Amino acid sequence: MPENVVTNTDLSKLMETNDEWIQERTGIKERRHIKQGDGNSTSIMGVKAATIALERAGLEPVDIDMVVFATLSPDMYFPGGGVQIQDLMGMRTVPALDVRNQCSGFVYAISVADQFVKTGMYKHVLVVGSENHSGGLDMTTRGRSVSVIFGDGAGAAVVSRSEDGEGGILSTHLHSEGKHKDELALQGPSTMHWVPEIIEKNPQDDIPYYPYMNGQFVFKNAVVRFSEVIMEGLQANGFAVEDIDMLIPHQANLRISQFIQRKFKLSDDKVYNNIQKYGNTTAASIPIALTEAWENGKIKKDDLVVLAAFGSGFTWGSVIIRW
Ligand code: ACO
Repeated sequence: MPENVVTNTDLSKLMETNDEWIQERTGIKERRHIKQGDGNSTSIMGVKAATIALERAGLEPVDIDMVVFATLSPDMYFPGGGVQIQDLMGMRTVPALDVRNQCSGFVYAISVADQFVKTGMYKHVLVVGSENHSGGLDMTTRGRSVSVIFGDGAGAAVVSRSEDGEGGILSTHLHSEGKHKDELALQGPSTMHWVPEIIEKNPQDDIPYYPYMNGQFVFKNAVVRFSEVIMEGLQANGFAVEDIDMLIPHQANLRISQFIQRKFKLSDDKVYNNIQKYGNTTAASIPIALTEAWENGKIKKDDLVVLAAFGSGFTWGSVIIRW
C-alpha cells in the first residue's frame, strides 16, 4: 500500500461529503492515495507486491514462467503493466498477459494462471493486481459518489504446481454480461473519446474522462451475482455454505460484504474485510485482503477459502481453494 493515508475528512475538504455519509454507505474510513513524487505507479506498486509474494514463495524472479497482471489503471495505454513487471523484476523473456476485468480482475487472473498450471505448461505463474485510481478520479462534488470509494494499492500471489497434487485451487468460475457495460465505465481517453479531441476541445467538464457508476444498479446486481457465483463454486465441488472457512469478497462496499455474510449466515471470523482502511482497490482488493487475512493467522492449512468478485463489465467470478 502507498503510505499516504487519505481520510474521509480529508476528502470533505475537496468536495461536499462527510465522514458519516461515507462510513454509513460504504464502511470506508480511509484509503491510500499515491502522492506525487513518492515513486509509486501501478507497475511499481505491482513490483513491490510481487517481490513480497516471491520472497514468501521462496522463489526468484527467474523461476517465474508467466506474469498475469490485472488492472484497470495501467501506467500506459499500451503496452500493459505485465511487461513492466517482467522487465523491472529481471525475469526471463516469459509471457506477460494483462487482464482487463476491473474488480473481477484478480479472480480472472487467478483462473488464467490456474489453467496454465493445470495443463502442465507452466510451473510458477505470478499473478498481480494493482491500481492507481487516485489520479483519475473527479475530486469535486460532481464525482463524490465514485471518488470517495476508490483507493490505490497492489497485491500479488504466486500460483504454483504442487508436487503432491493435494489441495490448491479446486475450481474457478467466471461470468460476464456486457449489456451493462455503461453502468460502471470510464469512456475516455479511448478510441471513442480520443486524445486529439481532448486537446482540441479541452473539455474539462466532460464526464467521459472520469469514471461513471450507476451505484444503486451496480449494488443490486452485485449482491445477486456474488451469491450466485459463490454457490456455483461450492456446488461444483460438492460443498455447502457451512464448509466455508474463509470468504474473501472483493472489497467493493462493506454493505455488499455484510449482505452476503448475512445471507449465507457466516460468522464474523469467516469473512475478511479491510475496505475500512483501503477503500475499493479494484483488482488489488482481493490479494490485499487475502494477504492480510493470512498474515493475521485467519487462514490455516486445509481451510476452504473462497474468493469472489463482481465489477464493471459486468463481470464476476469465484475461486474455490483448499489452502
Ligand atoms: N457524500 C455525501 N453525499 C453523497 C455522496 C458523498 N460522497 N455521494 C452521493 N451522495 C448523495 C447523492 O447525491 C444522493 O443525494 P440526493 O438523495 O439528494 O440525490 C444521496 O447521497 C444518495 O446517493 P446514492 O448514489 O443513491 O447513494 P447509495 O446509497 O446508492 O450509495 C454507493 C452510493 C456507495 C456508490 C453504492 O451505490 C454502492 O456501493 N454501489 C456499488 C458499488 C460497487 O459494488 N461497485 C462495483 C465494483 S467497482 C468496479 O468494478 C470498478
